[in-house]
Amino acid sequence: MSKIILTGDRPTGALHLGHFVGSLQNRVKLQHSYSQFVMIADLQALTDNAENPDKVRNNVIEVALDYLAVGIDPKLTTIFVQSKITELAELTMYYLNLVTLARLQRNPTVKSEMKQKGFSADVPAGFLMYPVSQAADITAFKADTVPVGEDQLPVIEQTNEIIRKFNSIYGNVLVETNALLSTTTRLPGLNGKAKMSKSLNNGIYLSDSVDILKQKVMSMYTDPNHLKVSDPGQVKGNMVFTYLDAFDTNTNKVKELKEHYTKGGLGDMVLKKHLLEVLDNVLSPIRTQREYLSQNKEGVFEVLKSGSDKAKNVASATLNEVRRAIGVNYF
Ligand code: TRP
Repeated sequence: MSKIILTGDRPTGALHLGHFVGSLQNRVKLQHSYSQFVMIADLQALTDNAENPDKVRNNVIEVALDYLAVGIDPKLTTIFVQSKITELAELTMYYLNLVTLARLQRNPTVKSEMKQKGFSADVPAGFLMYPVSQAADITAFKADTVPVGEDQLPVIEQTNEIIRKFNSIYGNVLVETNALLSTTTRLPGLNGKAKMSKSLNNGIYLSDSVDILKQKVMSMYTDPNHLKVSDPGQVKGNMVFTYLDAFDTNTNKVKELKEHYTKGGLGDMVLKKHLLEVLDNVLSPIRTQREYLSQNKEGVFEVLKSGSDKAKNVASATLNEVRRAIGVNYF
């Protein structure tokens, strides 16, 4: 049986290096061995951005440009926009009846995101139930594999609960899914404080110019006690080394740099210049491709349209099975 992947991102900002190491690189690889669907989750983005529709709207194209620029190939991957697949909304309505409010409130992913966004009882109902809509996304494509970070595991668990409950009541229609855990560790932000994220304003974006990239690398958190070049420095918690570990393929050189830095005599400036070169080698082809593609946004929207048409066909076939199973196929 062919393996099917469903994955995606909320379009609340352009994508950064954290996305690149955490998921984008993986998608470029996986598209050769899976039937892969990559969704721009604008509906999910609206669950906590109802009052900022322009933010969501404007970032759909940004995320699409990022996908194409890193090499997610529309010939191999179906790239689509969530809101165009109205079947997902109907599926969500059926699934909502299979989930309790208490279970949603206990979901650790929901809990921690609510905390992060400062929601309590005032949480938009749509936000609270987003794991249900995510179950609709996954099952509409009968995806048996969902690549996720650790933080999304409870959502996959809840998806499988919904699937089992649905199948036990209405008959075997839905396919259980499996999380494919990302093997890379989460990339921290420039300040070393937390994961790289749009809201913390600590990221390097795929769309950043060389000048911005340089500024950001130069502002990176290193070792606050490494004042003079001759001082011995700390490697642990030093973002320059964390990023070199993630991006410099010359591991021997990284090892030497670490030894030198620990001993003393290696300045932050020299080190940062090296990181800048390493990062620019990764980012410059992406940046060039992104600039090229952004001159033809209609072409990018064409890609999204044809991907969405394809996705809609698949989701619509599943929805027909679901309607038949529940018995809401009257005429
Ligand atoms: N929740 C994902 C995010 O945090 C986006 C998403 C929506 C998704 N539906 C999905 C991911 C289904 C995987 C499978 O951006």
